[in-house]
Amino acid sequence: MKNTISLTFLLLSCCLAESASQSFEQLAPTPPMGWNSWNKFGCNVSESLIKEMADAMVKSGMRDAGYQYIVIDDCWQISRDSAGSIVADPERFPSGMRALADYIHSKGLKFGLYSCAGSATCQGRPGSRGYQFQDARQYAVWGVDYLKYDWCNDEGQDAKAAYKTMHEALQACGRPIVFSICEWGDNKPWEWGNGIGHLWRTTADIRDCFDCTINWGGLGVLQILDKQTGLEEYAGPGHWNDPDMLEIGNGGQTITEYRTHFSLWCMLAAPLMAGNDLRSMPDSITDIVLNPDAIAVNQDTLGYQGFKFIDYGDLEVWVKALSGGDAAFCFLNRSSQPVDLNFNWKKMGLYHFSIAGNGFNLWKNNYAVKDLWSHKQIGTTKENLTAKLAPHEALLVRLSVIRNP
Ligand code: GLA
Repeated sequence: MKNTISLTFLLLSCCLAESASQSFEQLAPTPPMGWNSWNKFGCNVSESLIKEMADAMVKSGMRDAGYQYIVIDDCWQISRDSAGSIVADPERFPSGMRALADYIHSKGLKFGLYSCAGSATCQGRPGSRGYQFQDARQYAVWGVDYLKYDWCNDEGQDAKAAYKTMHEALQACGRPIVFSICEWGDNKPWEWGNGIGHLWRTTADIRDCFDCTINWGGLGVLQILDKQTGLEEYAGPGHWNDPDMLEIGNGGQTITEYRTHFSLWCMLAAPLMAGNDLRSMPDSITDIVLNPDAIAVNQDTLGYQGFKFIDYGDLEVWVKALSGGDAAFCFLNRSSQPVDLNFNWKKMGLYHFSIAGNGFNLWKNNYAVKDLWSHKQIGTTKENLTAKLAPHEALLVRLSVIRNP
């Protein structure tokens, strides 16, 4: 009898463990989409702000467009109690994290928090070092669905081991939680992140500028883009390179530049974490973050990360294989001068697409070309693609095979 019970118990725990790990693998089949407080609000986070942002995500149509996570970045935590449990700032979050999570869930959204693998976060709040399992259990009790885990004050730890510990803690906490590794690319997380987290930052922090390097390595859109080349092979369903959150709508760039920022992040299969004030978005910004054609490129289920295919200097051509034999092309004008584009599709090689194995074949098929910002068909691949690209503009198009031409 005793043996039967322990055998049943063993079988049950095996099954539970297996289903928990399967669900971890399946938590981010396409790049996560949501909003994070850091880029716009820094440490100025509060319960009312986060609730208003959840409301705005629904009202703006972002939830219905696929944005899901509302993530509080640094500064929500204030101390640990005598039992070592992490304490949310009671002045800023008077109803507590469980109530806030319930509110966010009631809107059909998911809730994310931030912590750090070091002993203190980048803003000097308590980190998770030494408390990983306790913190993960606390997140599960609160109803957390997403954890961004930073790398300040790492105290010489081995990065892979540190993130693996938190991975194990999340696996054991009893709740599926997306794990966002924020280690800035210092220890090549693309080489070990798959299986530990669902996404990993590849660079230092983004800044709200198109072409710049600011402060301690803060990077503009182009500077981040340039660091993605070669990383495409590491991304795929469930595991994504993260070139950092969006700056769209924060005021430092032109609308053209913000469109380009979005086009490129969609091409890169990057997580789309808005970083602006969702409560006060003009139409020019919602038109960007809600663009269904661009989002479809980002969320394509093939999970292929676009790569730089041709580099003409100021003009670059980026390509992303899509499911169903389609492909997205992004023609990027990096310069502050207009550029005349006259592109012969037949110049294209096929090598990379045969790797993607999606059946894309420019020599065999004729493709309809759709401009994903005007949402209009602009020709076929039998003709050259001609356009005038404004400074910092990107032309984002989708090629779909024309059956029975
Ligand atoms: C680091 C991260 C940022 C943000 C801040 C918060 O700089 O890279 O994304 O989370 O910490 O302090």
